[in-house]
Amino acid sequence: GTPARTSQRTVTLTIDGFPVTVPEGTSVMRASNTLGIAIPKLCATDNLEAWGSCRLCAVEIEGRRGTPASCTTPVTEGMVVHTQTPKLHKLRKGVMELYISDHPLDCLTCAANGDCELQDMAGAVGLREVRYEAPPQAPLANHFLRRQDGDANPQFIPKDDSNPYFTYDPSKCIVCSRCVRACEEVQGTFALTIQGRGFDSRVSAGMAGDSFLSSDCVSCGACVQACPTATLQEKSVIEIGTPDRKVVTTCAYCGVGCSFEAE
Ligand code: FES
Repeated sequence: GTPARTSQRTVTLTIDGFPVTVPEGTSVMRASNTLGIAIPKLCATDNLEAWGSCRLCAVEIEGRRGTPASCTTPVTEGMVVHTQTPKLHKLRKGVMELYISDHPLDCLTCAANGDCELQDMAGAVGLREVRYEAPPQAPLANHFLRRQDGDANPQFIPKDDSNPYFTYDPSKCIVCSRCVRACEEVQGTFALTIQGRGFDSRVSAGMAGDSFLSSDCVSCGACVQACPTATLQEKSVIEIGTPDRKVVTTCAYCGVGCSFEAE
């Protein structure tokens, strides 16, 4: 998780009892990864700037109050980090429970089944049941958008399949903003934004009602690659299922080494 930092200076810290030395500025999450300790995460990826929104990657740091997000916390000399404590297990399970309470439970028929980070993380934190009911206005809150005039009657947000290459299903969105950041950081386009608050928050490709096709989206697919659920899905994946193999080609044109994936 979280992009690597380059620095001449190094920092030595202890994570779950193991000493590790990493470049200054490295996140606690990335330092843990170098030890082979995988901290649960949803909003962090290897190639996007850390965002710190999902709170799943919380850790305990001796001498520090609270449970900071490991993806946004830089290492410091002598830091003593704990990634697996009863308090953290309970916290992560509680966070996942809230995510799942607002998510369709159609994993078996979902196009992302077996290739879904939300599903993986639910398993990783040991979530077996959800105690919360879906919010009263809808079985699946992200299907809906409250009207701007304050009318309590929610308005149905249909699945957006206006783009020829992918679909956007708001009911499966966990608002991790990975797609928004990929659009900005990978593509340099600012087609997506987060709209609304709480249960009403959702990814938007423009003003309410605007579709992906009518937005500034250039169909690069960076958002689809970044999505950890089935919210943004390639149409081919929906029709034929998740591919079981990929071919990676490295461009020979210059020395940069850009890779392209084909399925
Ligand atoms: Fe760190 Fe989401 S992975 S807050």
